[in-house]
Parts: sequence; C-alpha cells; structure tokens
Amino acid sequence: MKQTKRIYLSPPYQNGTEQELLNRVLQNNWLSTVGPELKLFEDSIKSIIGQEVLAVNSGTSALHLILSQIGVNPGDEILVSDLTFVASINPIRYMGAEPVLIDSERLTWNINPDILEDVILRRIETGKKPKAVIVVHLYGMPAQIEKIHSICEKYQITLIEDAAEALGSTYYKKALGTFGEYGFLSFNGNKTITTSGGGAVICSKKELDHFLKLATQSKDEALHYEHSELGYNHRLSNVLAALGLAQISDLDHRVKRKREIFENYQNHLGDYMDFLEEPDGYFSSRWLSCGLFRVPVQINALIRKLDQECNIECRPIWKPMHLQPLYKEATFFGSGVSKDLFNNGICLPSGVGLTLPDQEYVIDSFKRIIERL
Ligand SMILES: Cc1ncc(COP(=O)(O)O)c(C=O)c1O
Repeated sequence: MKQTKRIYLSPPYQNGTEQELLNRVLQNNWLSTVGPELKLFEDSIKSIIGQEVLAVNSGTSALHLILSQIGVNPGDEILVSDLTFVASINPIRYMGAEPVLIDSERLTWNINPDILEDVILRRIETGKKPKAVIVVHLYGMPAQIEKIHSICEKYQITLIEDAAEALGSTYYKKALGTFGEYGFLSFNGNKTITTSGGGAVICSKKELDHFLKLATQSKDEALHYEHSELGYNHRLSNVLAALGLAQISDLDHRVKRKREIFENYQNHLGDYMDFLEEPDGYFSSRWLSCGLFRVPVQINALIRKLDQECNIECRPIWKPMHLQPLYKEATFFGSGVSKDLFNNGICLPSGVGLTLPDQEYVIDSFKRIIERL
C-alpha cells in the first residue's frame, strides 16, 4: 500500500537544539555575515577535522574562492573527477579555465590515480602543466588520497579535495579535506549537517585571513571602501552559522545512523546489488547508501515506480561529467568506469531520521518492484 508520508533521499535532520540557537541569534541581533556564531561554528568544525576553516555560503563558493586564491587564469587546465556533481566543475569555468575529466576506479568509485598520473605526465610533456587537481570523495567514500597526494607532490601540483559529501569520513583516522593544500565541505540541505545552504573552505592558518578577505569583497585596510583585488560575497550568514552550530553538535550520531542504514541495506539487498566495501583504513560517513546491480536492471523504471507507487525517492548515481551536455567538449580520459557506475547504480534513502520501519518499507517496496521488472 502506498504510504502517504514521503521518504526522501536525504532530507535535513534536526536534533532539537536548532530553535534555541536560532532564537539566541535573533536576540543578539547579529543578523549579518559577522557575528559570534560564525567563530563558534568554525571552531567546532576545526575541532572535528583538525584544520582551519572559513564558513561560506556554499560548497560551490568555497571552491570558487580556492581557485581564486591559487590564481587560476583563463585557459589553465584543472584535472578533476569525472563522476561527481556538477558543482565540482562549474567553478573551474567561472574562472575561464578548462576541466580535464578523469575516470573513476572500482575500489572507491573516485578518481583513478593511475590515469591521473598518466595524464599529468602527458600534459607536462606537451608543456601544459595542470594548475591543480580536484579529487572528490564521492558519497562519503575516501578516494585513494595518499596515493593521489604523493602524485601531486611529485609533480608539484596543487591538490584540492572536494569533501562536500564527506564530513565525518576519514582516511587512517585523518579527516578528508585535510590532505591537500585545500579542501572544502558543503552544508546544503541534503548533507550530513545542514545550514540550509552553506559550506566551508579548509586551508592553512596563514591563508585564512586572505580567504576571509576574498569572501567579503576584498576590502583593503582603510576607513573608506578601498579595493585592490577582485573579491566575492561568499561569506556564510551568522544566522545560518547558528543552525550549523546546532547541527554539528551530534555529528557522531549522524554518521553512526548513516552507517547503520547502509549496513541494513547491505544485509537485505545484498542479493541484488554490490555495496562498496571500505578498504583497510578507509572510513566512510556513508552519506548516501548506493548499490551497484550485478545484472542489468531498468533503473529508471524502478526509480519511477518507487516514486509513484510507494512515495519513495531514489536517484541514479551522479551522471558523469563527460556525458553532460554542458561538458561534452571537455577532454576526458578513461575507460568507461564512471559510465558503468552511472548505468548500473542506485542511491537509496539515507536520511539520518530514517526510522527502522521506514527503511523496512523501502526494502520491501524495492524487492517487490524489482521482482516485477
Ligand atoms: C560532490 C559535491 N561537490 C560540490 C557540491 C557543492 O556544494 P553546495 O551545494 O554547497 O554548493 C556538492 C553538493 O551539492 C557535492 O555533492
């Protein structure tokens, strides 16, 4: 029977402390892009990931700021994971630069380090050294970050980690986003914690002040408004920082729940799909539970039936960037792994607030429909 309550893929989850912290902001009147909650929120993130952060209004803005900070110029090439959300790539174009898309590997679904090194070498040989590498930790699963870090060090190329989906994930106990020179997080509505919209730049202490300047229209030291470089209006609102402060207070619980949800799917749907295992030392937040069908399945029909007959939201895996109309002209290196993941994978409801009966309903509905397809 169709449930009236909709089960979303990854809806916001409130722990009950949000209202109080929002009220506090309304009382203290810091309804601004400055205020005490920003510092408190940043300090909380810092204590979790072990590195400096600047809270900004989205993950996309965070990447835009990072690309500005490293001086990306029109025509520069940036190597980036092909299997990702478009926001990992768009800021490259904002800067007039060119994304070079690198296929996934099967171990983590993230950027293939061997292809990456090969492409770097070929680019260097032709006299066009890439300006940076952006590695995405998709669905919370760490990329082969140590290997990728060594490659970037070897060829002296800036490494940027897109940890938008990976707050709470670690690689040998070190937080994702802290391996490269720069990293960033997202706090949009579907992420593990949310500020409704928001993100953070992860950077070194010495660059923090400049990131703040860039994010707030690059005002020079002066009584009047003086500007000598191009800045942006990318800072997070203090009101939203209060929301973030409430949300981050139970991050461990959120990650624990996401991992339990993943395990439950693995136990009950393991006959239909493979679920990505964590290699030794890899710890995934399991931001979204995703599976890969072993035999071809009409995934779009399955998703539509779950939606229309059961009021359940599921999604395909991210569509690779080289298959997107927007990036079809971009250079792509690979052998079809990202395409295969897209064609055969599915993302299942993974919200922190998903109850056990809700998850049982999802599992039963899934089995019932798949048997009919
Ligand atoms: C992999 C990835 N990168 C970047 C972003 C961009 O983050 P935001 O939506 O906060 O701009 C997101 C989330 O939307 C994402 O999933």
